[in-house]
Amino acid sequence: MNPAHPSMKIILFGATGMVGQGVLRECLLDSGVESVLAVGRSSTGQRHAKLREILHDNFMDFSTIESELAGYDACFFCLGVSSVGMNEERYRHLTYDITMAAATVLAKLNPGMVFTYVTGRSTDSTEQGPQMWARVKGKTENDLLKLPFKAAYMFRPAGIQPLHGVRSKTAWVQAIYVVAGPLLSYLNRVAPKYMTTSEQLAAP
Ligand SMILES: NC(=O)c1ccc[n+]([C@@H]2O[C@H](COP(=O)([O-])OP(=O)(O)OC[C@H]3O[C@@H](n4cnc5c(N)ncnc54)[C@H](OP(=O)(O)O)[C@@H]3O)[C@@H](O)[C@H]2O)c1
Repeated sequence: MNPAHPSMKIILFGATGMVGQGVLRECLLDSGVESVLAVGRSSTGQRHAKLREILHDNFMDFSTIESELAGYDACFFCLGVSSVGMNEERYRHLTYDITMAAATVLAKLNPGMVFTYVTGRSTDSTEQGPQMWARVKGKTENDLLKLPFKAAYMFRPAGIQPLHGVRSKTAWVQAIYVVAGPLLSYLNRVAPKYMTTSEQLAAP
């Protein structure tokens, strides 16, 4: 990538979420990124010369927007939900089914694409462990790695402290981040393995 000649074309899923907001910020700031296409069910509310948005309502079927998803170098897949209070069927649908539906279309249209999936620390690659969320994330990671991307990376953050106005869409998560802000900053300094920031997570 030559920063003097921005060339990276990026697709971003989950741009309205906490992780996605951080990734969007860093992509827009990065001189090596030519453009960002945010695909979501709601708007980011941002305007930027590099940013284009597609609002889409069926994340199991991308056939109506397929022609707009070709010609990209990288995808950051930041769409995801907390499993708290959710049964396995619902969590699996929102985590595995949606991710695989999008990734399968992207791999078909962009064989040169590098796909980055934001998953979570302690994801269970064996798919056999006791924690439901970890098994589902593990199955999702494993099947993403089988798709014909140029490369696929599974990003497993633990805690993420939101910075620069980044907010979680999940109210209880956002409340924790507000109340525990100073503690999270401290943890980021002394235990960076367990606490990163939205800036560090998304930085090139
Ligand atoms: N936050 C953390 O501390 C943390 C730590 C480790 C891993 N992670 C992982 O990072 C990923 C993103 O988490 P986050 O904290 O950014 O979540 P978040 O703030 O709750 O945002 C979730 C994002 O996913 C989208 N989304 C959720 N359900 C959707 C659906 N049915 N159809 C279309 N879009 C949907 C949301 O879109 P709308 O705006 O339309 O709702 C939003 O863009 C998750 O996989 C999570 O497990 C997060």
